[in-house]
Amino acid sequence: LDVAVLVSGRGSNLQALIDACADEDFPARIVRVISNNPDAYGLERARQANIPTSVINHRDYDSKEAFEEALDKELNACKAKMICLAGFMRILEARFVNRWKDRILNIHPSLLPSFKGLHTHERALESGVRFTGCTVHIVRPEMDDGPIILQAAVAVNPDETADELAARILEYEHIIYPEALRLMASGKARIAGDKVIIESAAY
Ligand code: GRF
Repeated sequence: LDVAVLVSGRGSNLQALIDACADEDFPARIVRVISNNPDAYGLERARQANIPTSVINHRDYDSKEAFEEALDKELNACKAKMICLAGFMRILEARFVNRWKDRILNIHPSLLPSFKGLHTHERALESGVRFTGCTVHIVRPEMDDGPIILQAAVAVNPDETADELAARILEYEHIIYPEALRLMASGKARIAGDKVIIESAAY
């Protein structure tokens, strides 16, 4: 399955996806990496893996609609069938999300539906939860909402900093994102209403 990955920064999750796709048995391949930020390190990672890149800088467009129109055009041009958001820091409008319905994946660094939005690790530490983690889900028009594909739970150590917690969770992000893509691309996971059902034979 041909996939495009959208990044805005560091791209460590992109790297995990690139590494997974290097296995010839993996059911997806990355046909393009697109960034709204021309300086995203993720673009460099893509170049090193010989994956074509595009920059669609939101600052070059008058409206969100025009930006997303350009994005859509680029995605169609590279014939992507699925989109993986990997640290993509622009919220996509309902029109775009509905056009790509059930075909956009996102990774979020909390156990959704807890801690949607930014600063998840600070907020998890402040709130006193004993577990937090990360979630790969199908994107719906509401931010950080949509059917959950996979999650990893990490025990919170109340003495650690948000950065330390983030680093521990990131290791699990790098495991569950490729795995979630594998399940979706192979058809072993399918969307049923507000849920994703995983074929038991997949494990
Ligand atoms: C990750 O923590 C991801 O969960 C969140 O943004 C961060 C992106 O990191 N959506 P990277 O660019 O993949 O290294």
